[in-house]
Amino acid sequence: MYLIAPSILSADFARLGEEVTRVVDSGADWIHFDVMDNHYVPNMTVGPVVCKAIRPMTTAMIDVHLMTRPVDRLIGDFAKAGANVITFHPEASEHVDRSLSLIRDSGCQSGLAFNPATPLHYMDYVMDKLDLVLLMGVNPGFGGQKFIPSTLTKLQEARARALAYEQEADRRIRVGIDGGVKVDNVAAIALAGADTFVAGSAIFEAGQDGDPHHYDSVIAAMRAQLSRV
Ligand code: DX5
Ligand code: ZN
Repeated sequence: MYLIAPSILSADFARLGEEVTRVVDSGADWIHFDVMDNHYVPNMTVGPVVCKAIRPMTTAMIDVHLMTRPVDRLIGDFAKAGANVITFHPEASEHVDRSLSLIRDSGCQSGLAFNPATPLHYMDYVMDKLDLVLLMGVNPGFGGQKFIPSTLTKLQEARARALAYEQEADRRIRVGIDGGVKVDNVAAIALAGADTFVAGSAIFEAGQDGDPHHYDSVIAAMRAQLSRV
C-alpha cells in the first residue's frame, strides 16, 4: 500500500533513460516527473517530449507533477506522451474541476498538489474527481530542501478527509507527500497519513558515484522504516 516515487529532478539528466531503468530496478514503484515552467515556480525543467522519450524505458507508472500555469494545454500533451498520473496545483488553474475532468478524460489518474500555505478546502467539491492528494513538504521549485514540519498536521487533515470520502464512496484516494522526504522522516510522515512518498535527492544523490546498489539501499531503508509503521 505504500508507494515510493523517486523524483527525476535529482537524477543525472545526461543519462536520464538509464537512471529511470536503474531506479525502477532498485525497487521504485512510480517515476515522479517534475515539470517546472519558470512562471508558476522559479525553475525550469522538462516537458512532454522528455516524458515520451523515457516512456519506453519502463513499465512503471509515470507520475507527472505540473508546476506550471496554465495547466490545461499540457494535460493532453502529457497523456499522449505516456503519463499515467497527472497532478497540478489548484492555484494554477482557472477551473480546477475542468482540469481534473480533462485528466480523467485523457485516461490518466488525477491529482491536486498543495503548497505549504495552500488550504485543503480546494478538495471539497472535487473529491469524486481525485485519485491523489499530494501535499508539498517544501515550497515547490527545487530539490534538496528541508521538510517543513507543519506538513505533518496537514497530512493528518488530508488523510481524515480522504478516509471520510472513502467510507462514503467506497473508492480509494491516495495521500502523497513531495519534498524533503528522507529515510529518517519517512516513518513519521507515514504515521501522519501519507501512503505515497516522492523522494528526489534522498535517492538520487545516494547513487551519484554510479553504483546502482546505492539506490537499492536507500529504497530498502525507506521500506524498512515503513514496515514498522
Ligand atoms: C519540488 C519537486 C519535488 C522535488 C523533491 O518542487 O516537486 O518533486 O524534486 O525533491 P527532494 O526529495 O530532494 O526534496
Ligand atoms: Zn514533485
